[in-house]
Amino acid sequence: MTIESGRIRIFDTTLRDGEQSPGATMNLQEKIRLARQLETLGVDIMEAGFPASSQGDFEAVQAIARAVRGVEVAGLCRAMPADIDRAWDAVKVAESPRIHTFLATSPVHMQYKLRKEPDQVVEMAVAAVRHAAKYTSNVEFSAEDASRSNPDFLVRVFEAVINAGATTINVPDTVGYAQPEEFGRLIRYVIENTPNSHKAVFSVHCHNDLGMGVANTLAALKAGARQAEVTISGIGERAGNASLEEIVMALHTRRDFYQLDCGVVTEQLFPTCRLLSMIIGQPIPPNKAIVGANAFAHESGIHQDGMLKNRETYEIMTPESIGKTKTDLVIGKHSGRNAVKNKLEELGYRLEEDQLVTVFEAVKKLADKKKQIYDEDIEALVLEEVYRLPDLYRLVNLSVQCSDTGMPPTAAVVMDVMGEVKRAAGFGVGPVDAIFNVIGEMVGRAPVLERYSVTAITGGTDAQGEVTVRLRQNGSSAVGRGSDPDIILASARAYVNALNRLAKKEEEQEKEGI
Ligand code: KIV
Ligand code: ZN
Repeated sequence: MTIESGRIRIFDTTLRDGEQSPGATMNLQEKIRLARQLETLGVDIMEAGFPASSQGDFEAVQAIARAVRGVEVAGLCRAMPADIDRAWDAVKVAESPRIHTFLATSPVHMQYKLRKEPDQVVEMAVAAVRHAAKYTSNVEFSAEDASRSNPDFLVRVFEAVINAGATTINVPDTVGYAQPEEFGRLIRYVIENTPNSHKAVFSVHCHNDLGMGVANTLAALKAGARQAEVTISGIGERAGNASLEEIVMALHTRRDFYQLDCGVVTEQLFPTCRLLSMIIGQPIPPNKAIVGANAFAHESGIHQDGMLKNRETYEIMTPESIGKTKTDLVIGKHSGRNAVKNKLEELGYRLEEDQLVTVFEAVKKLADKKKQIYDEDIEALVLEEVYRLPDLYRLVNLSVQCSDTGMPPTAAVVMDVMGEVKRAAGFGVGPVDAIFNVIGEMVGRAPVLERYSVTAITGGTDAQGEVTVRLRQNGSSAVGRGSDPDIILASARAYVNALNRLAKKEEEQEKEGI
């Protein structure tokens, strides 16, 4: 692809780099659900995982490769034959598979991490790409820590790997060190000085340690890069990666400046960010660019007045353009199964018949407690009822008592603990503390509660509360979420969900001998 072509390829790495971010672990069903949404969003390539890193990752990449169509599926691997073989085994079932291999090129990485001389690094990179190219012509090579590498050494490596068969060359700002002007210069330099650069697509992958991920990516696109590696909501290692929605909307809103296009369906941006937030149990911050709750809220009198006179006074893009339409009232107490099915399809869920029955029953139950059921309520139910792990622990019943007579809050809980129904009661400093204490005792665990947050899924006093908890025990952490109009019940569900995830994680680590 030449620089003259103004088409940017969007490479989403939410399922790989994003999943590496603290607390963003997803189970297999959740990964597949997100992958399908990325397909609907219209990304060009999705990086589904790092197959050699664990059996779980291998299986997830393979399942995603089978599940999606019309999008390339990449598997990450180190520049080593065994890793490359594993990546290929996982992605080869995809309609359009890609092998993405990487090797560090900066002095500090080569000397201390790889313990290799530059000549050896070139040799290793070439051997890796040759090995990958035996499987597919769709091979990406990443020069890890490129922004701290010698530009002429990068040119040498790139020329060699393109000759060996690499068709995409990625220039990562691995540690988020670059500054936009400087990074743009680097991209232009390597493209202009790599003799065979016209045979490859140049890509960038920017981390956000100094808050420059998006700015660096845009500067690189302006300088000639034609692939942007990004994540939904900017999740990723440490401070995260450049955020997909910010890059896409910058290109879209400032087409006059960039003169670049991409194939993302902008109306799917908000639904995708919302889905990710629900899956990983991390609320979207209100001031998050593009998709935060305040991104289109106008509070000051002067702004409101301007908006009433002409929206363009303070609005550079519309909520509709990112898919943030007014939440429709959709389903109520008397809605039938077909109405729920249609709604689910409209929201992008393709469910099996038994899953549909489960969701329909949950919708009916919720409709007894809550008059108006919104799209977000239905999504919360689907995630809770369908995309969850086979549970070791299940909440059966719960009752809590609080009074101001000096009696501490009391919780009585009935749980199914690995097939055995148990009953217990206990105290706490507050109702949530009482529930967590009792549940912890019943399952024989005392994890540290690292985070507890409640948000309302929709407006209204009968809104469902969405509770997120993060637990840590024996070096592992897990996020759980639960929703219900009763936030005490939502808290108990979130706690049990996190305990199940913790148990599952420990089981996987044991299986893999970690
Ligand atoms: O940040 C990085 O350098 C990476 C590479 C593996 C592309 O994630
Ligand atoms: Zn990265």
